[in-house]
Amino acid sequence: AEDGYDLWLRYRPVEAARSTDIAARTTGIVTSGDSPTLAIAVAELQRGVEGMTGRQIAPLSALRPGALVLATPRTGTAMPIDTGRLGDEGYAIRSTQMSGAPVTLIAANSDRGLLYGVYHWLRLAQGGAALDRIDLRSAPRIGLRLLNHWDNLDGTVERGYAGMSIWDWWRLPDYKGPRYADYARANASLGINGTVLNNVNAKAESLTPAYIAKAAALAHVFRPYGIRVYLSVRWTAPMELDGLKTADPLDPQVAAWWKAKADEIYRAIPDFGGFLVKANSEGQPGPQDYKRTHADGANMLAAAVKPHGGIVMWRAFVYQHDNPEDRAKQAYSDFKPLDGQFADNVMVQVKNGAIDFQPREPFHPLFGAMPRTPLMMEFQITKEYLGQSTHLTYLGPLFEEVLKADTFAKGRGSTVAKVIDGSLDGHRLTGIAGVANIGVDRDWSGSIFNQADWYAFGRMAWNPDLPAEAVAREWAALAFSPDPRIVDPVVAMMMGSREAAVDYMTPLGLSHVMATGHHYGPGPWVSDLARPEWNPVYYHKADASGIGFDRTASGSDAVAQYAPQVAKMLANPKTAPERDLLWFHHLPWSYRLKSGESLWDGMVHRYDRGVAYVEDMQRTWDSLRPLIDPERFAQTQAFLRIQRREAQWWRDASIAYFQSVNRLPLPAGSAKPA
Ligand code: GCU
Repeated sequence: AEDGYDLWLRYRPVEAARSTDIAARTTGIVTSGDSPTLAIAVAELQRGVEGMTGRQIAPLSALRPGALVLATPRTGTAMPIDTGRLGDEGYAIRSTQMSGAPVTLIAANSDRGLLYGVYHWLRLAQGGAALDRIDLRSAPRIGLRLLNHWDNLDGTVERGYAGMSIWDWWRLPDYKGPRYADYARANASLGINGTVLNNVNAKAESLTPAYIAKAAALAHVFRPYGIRVYLSVRWTAPMELDGLKTADPLDPQVAAWWKAKADEIYRAIPDFGGFLVKANSEGQPGPQDYKRTHADGANMLAAAVKPHGGIVMWRAFVYQHDNPEDRAKQAYSDFKPLDGQFADNVMVQVKNGAIDFQPREPFHPLFGAMPRTPLMMEFQITKEYLGQSTHLTYLGPLFEEVLKADTFAKGRGSTVAKVIDGSLDGHRLTGIAGVANIGVDRDWSGSIFNQADWYAFGRMAWNPDLPAEAVAREWAALAFSPDPRIVDPVVAMMMGSREAAVDYMTPLGLSHVMATGHHYGPGPWVSDLARPEWNPVYYHKADASGIGFDRTASGSDAVAQYAPQVAKMLANPKTAPERDLLWFHHLPWSYRLKSGESLWDGMVHRYDRGVAYVEDMQRTWDSLRPLIDPERFAQTQAFLRIQRREAQWWRDASIAYFQSVNRLPLPAGSAKPA
């Protein structure tokens, strides 16, 4: 059934001509060696080719025309490919001649590289590419490409919209269900090479012997797929689990506890990746509770995992209830002064923006501001603020926009991508994390189109320069069919969908106007929550005279956290990108936009435009009915109906609220509320 379980690894039968073409390139598989990873690569090829062509392909002991050859320098095969610069995980694929026979050679320096090469070849075959003249090389630009699961030990998922956690803690470690290997396949097919199993709002119990054994069982399944396991840790675990009197990072007993704990974990999981830490943020304990810095805390943990080759990922998502500073400034204020103080196996993990995964945020000012510290990107794949499981809002353009943003840290061209791939400041330890959108739903991600966000994260983690549109094309071809009658309209829907959500939720740089707690639906009027920075009114600051958060020198001066060229550009509403206008400026309702219309009229037009875009997507999707299987067609159609209704709800509620503040009429031509 087309219930989405197979993700982008569907391997459905292809039409006759392509089947013949694939068959001619897969007369057999030549490998040498017998590692579990290689066995997975061969099995995946067999599964893929059989699915697409109906033919079974066998391992060959000698070359034959049309063979697929998997080789590393170790295997002794004389290769017409230089694997020199491919690194540990890269690969090359070439249509070539070996011993006089035309073959497809997949070459790498490791079996992991071969596995990634196999998935690339299968992507080409499924996507309808010509298979007779392949010549490509690919190596990841970022070293650690991780999913962060916000999965709780009770089976729920924080900000998860695809059902409960896929980790069946209750029956682990004894029972390892088949879904774990399918999860690993899907991730390996994208080059994702690590996974943090548990929520950053961690429970101490995740470090008990029982849970270490469960994590070890998962690590065992994932290992041959090139995926390492990591854990989120709770700062006060030594107190909660073993009665220590303090969690002060400079207390020798605390350091000894963590060292012993790390040793225990590595005995069970020799290739354990390391720890992810949320400390002194949203009520979580941390080193600041003992008047120590984030660096003190991170370095103490880093010392515990260092002998084993582990790392610490210390999150910069911090803001304190008793700190009156603009929330958008607090992470920079805390972390920038610590640049240069972190141990060499610590990475600071920074969300893409300074508030919290909004439909649009300007890039986080820490990018480019901590040259001596490897910064890791944290994207949210699960769409907490972008319509969760029902709204079609493809995140590729959001990822691309952030990665391409220019920090000017070392002059023009100092993009965020170059900060996190290490090239700007010469870091060898590099990483990117995506907060997973995975749960037990049959389709894994809560909707067919949400699968594209997982896909895009993985592909862009491997190569942060991949355009979101190219990734959408790949995904649509794999998820549905390479038929341009499907791919073109589906990609067109996807590419404008995030901007549409920005339009109907948070136009012109507004942020955090979602309803309280669940963050689904509008709540710009909310003003009575205990902490000021939880209230939408804190962010939009709308009153009778105007709207927006003044982050220039006359306000919080958050602009000063950016490089001087960027700060100057942002400080002037005429030169700041209009899409970020109200993020940085408080402006009168009558302020003239570039279009010539007033700020208020422009806002209303954007709300209208967002709703209209969803209607367009509905029309496009309806026209695809004859080409899409009934299950997935029906799911998407139903979800688009929900999205249409809720885009209207967003528009009507937002406009009604802001009108209650500014008393302005709707511009001519704007629809009345539904
Ligand atoms: C957001 C989200 C929380 C999460 C937090 C974090 O605030 O709503 O659920 O715990 O981010 O990233 O730590």
